[in-house]
Formats: sequence, C-alpha cells, structure tokens
Amino acid sequence: MSKNPVIPYALIAGIGILLVIVISFVGLNQQEAIQEEESGEEQSEQQEGQSDGGGDSSGGETAANGEEVYQSNCASCHGQDLSGAAGPALDTIGSKYSKDEIKQIIADGFPPQMPGGLVQGDDAEAVAQWLSEQQ
Ligand code: HEC
Repeated sequence: MSKNPVIPYALIAGIGILLVIVISFVGLNQQEAIQEEESGEEQSEQQEGQSDGGGDSSGGETAANGEEVYQSNCASCHGQDLSGAAGPALDTIGSKYSKDEIKQIIADGFPPQMPGGLVQGDDAEAVAQWLSEQQ
C-alpha cells in the first residue's frame, strides 16, 4: 500500500464509479416501475373514460330516436303529427312502404320537392324504422 499512494484513491474512485452505475440501474428500474404504474393508472382512467363514453354513445343511439329525427328533419314539410303540410301526409306511410323503401326515399329524396340525404346513417335508420311503424 505504502508503495503506491494512488491505490487508496483508485479504490475509492472505483467504488464510487461502481456505486454510480449500480444506483443508476436501480434508478432506471424504479423509473420503469413508476412509468408502468402511471401508464397502468392512465389505462384504467382510459377504461373508465371509455365506459363513460360507451354510456354516452349508447345514450346517443337512443337519441337517434326515429320520432325525434322526424320532428327535427321532416316535420316542417310532413307535419308534426304526420298529417302533411308542404309534403304529403305520412300517417299511414308504413302500409305503403317498407322500412327499406322509406330509407331509400330518405337517401334519394322524392323529386322534385323533397331533397335527398336530409338525414343519414343511424338517424335515417331510426326514422325509417319509426315511419314504417305508422300504418
Ligand atoms: C322540403 C320539404 C320536405 C322535407 C324536409 C321532407 N320531405 Fe318528404 N316529401 C316532401 C314532398 C313534397 C313529398 C312528395 C313529393 C311528390 O309527391 O312529388 C315527399 C314525399 C315523401 C315520402 C313519400 C310519400 C308517399 O306517399 O309516397 C316519404 C316517405 C317522405 N317524404 C319521407 C320524408 C322523411 C323521412 C323526411 C325527413 C328525413 C322528409 N320526407 C323530409 C317534402 C319534404
């Protein structure tokens, strides 16, 4: 030892370097664990959000209520009680057309006065279903 005075310093330096390496590995592992925890929390939050969203969208589907769609898109011409106005009465439309035929009329319109595509997708589906029940 006394022969080389640098050795104790080298030892301490070596231990220090080892410690730095060990601690940084420990730190990395902890960081990963923390990230996993956080993303786990985020996922569960997202799942909660999704279940909320699911509730909302199923609420949205019930909002695609045929009668409501009719009232906001068709009643201005066909009358709030289906009795007709600018357009013909639809109070017995279900005995004239099937649901699919009504959907077709909604998509194509009824030339010349009634424009096509007034409602689309779920809304068209819902209102066609509702009208096909008016017999
Ligand atoms: C701009 C006014 C207007 C709007 C809005 C309108 N229609 Fe019409 N619709 C008419 C007219 C006018 C006719 C009749 C056309 C003809 O006989 O030449 C008609 C015809 C129809 C017919 C065929 C009726 C029959 O006895 O053959 C159906 C079904 C119909 N509309 C459904 C709808 C639905 C569903 C909506 C809402 C998505 C809607 N209409 C919105 C004006 C309208």
